[in-house]
Amino acid sequence: MLGGTRVLSSVVASQNELHAEYGGVVPELASRAHVERILPVVRRAIADAGVKLADLQAVAVGHRPGLIGSLVVGVSAAKSLAWSLGISLIGVDHVRAHLYAGALHDASLSEPHPHAWDETFAFPALGLVVSGGHTSLYRVDSWTALTRLGATIDDAMGEAFDKAAAILGISFPGGPNLDRLARTPGANDRAHDFPVSRLAPGSLDFSFSGLKTAMLYAVRGVPLKGGVFERDHTALNEGQRADLASSFQRAAVRAAILKLERALELLRAQSEATNGTRGSQPVRTLLVGGGVTANSRLRSELTAFAARENLRLRLPAIAYCVDNAAMIAGLGFQQLAIGDVADLRLSAVPTTAC
Ligand code: KG4
Ligand code: ZN
Repeated sequence: MLGGTRVLSSVVASQNELHAEYGGVVPELASRAHVERILPVVRRAIADAGVKLADLQAVAVGHRPGLIGSLVVGVSAAKSLAWSLGISLIGVDHVRAHLYAGALHDASLSEPHPHAWDETFAFPALGLVVSGGHTSLYRVDSWTALTRLGATIDDAMGEAFDKAAAILGISFPGGPNLDRLARTPGANDRAHDFPVSRLAPGSLDFSFSGLKTAMLYAVRGVPLKGGVFERDHTALNEGQRADLASSFQRAAVRAAILKLERALELLRAQSEATNGTRGSQPVRTLLVGGGVTANSRLRSELTAFAARENLRLRLPAIAYCVDNAAMIAGLGFQQLAIGDVADLRLSAVPTTAC
């Protein structure tokens, strides 16, 4: 990473194949794979960037949240590198870094970046993180000042996609494969009237468990006595599976957009009540991130929502929606700029700070 936005190289060691046969991530296998891959990945990132270790000015590491075994491997490697090179160590919160992904520029990607990054119109922003482990809304006043407005009370959005995919018999990783199935030509997104969770009036929290159960019943029928189901996904033909995937995706995305609408309304009302005085400027930017922002339908609905509401949308390139180190380095740069650096006592923490 050069400066806070220019990505010189980005290497992702995917573990999907390793976990596919178990239908989900096995923590111990994940930590072991981290041990095996961390050094080759660091070496390749340095080589691809065309720099030398001695050129580095800081090492940023995602130290929270996540599976503790994998985090410990990353944190130990980052500490060793920073200590041996005598450079700064920066501990970055992964959830916060997802919101930074839309600020990254990567000349090697075919997707053009929609706008030149300009801090002056960036904040305050409305932020949405939708990943496999988190689903939250934020008011973002700077890269390091976030206020959480709401979060899921049960499943994360990505988790709901993964579980819905499993119910449909779609192979792991479920989210992207369900997205693909939903895009089958002729798929009817209104074939099933799946519930769009609203929760209490004005609530900015999310819930996806009702939608997941609706999907389960649509595929398997209502459970009989003893919790046994009448059928499973093998009773469905391809057209029915595509309709189910598409209807599920429509409801899940609608739920996310609905909460964004509510949050924007709240922030605009707060700003008007205080006449847009310092600290309550109107929201001008929409920051989004996390694996589910790679979803085709969510991307187009976010784009339409931002246009409707006159917000500048920072939609990350697909490569930076899912977990990646570039977003960690980018936010790390911003933290370094304000002296938010760690020392060798930095620890791995399973939960997010935001
Ligand atoms: O941010 P991420 O890579 O890892 C976490 O921090 O959790 O997000 C992974 C999640 C998974 O649940 C995956 O199924 C979901 O993002 N995901 C998608 C798509 N691509 C990834 N969900 C729906 N549609 C997609 N295209
Ligand atoms: Zn993530």
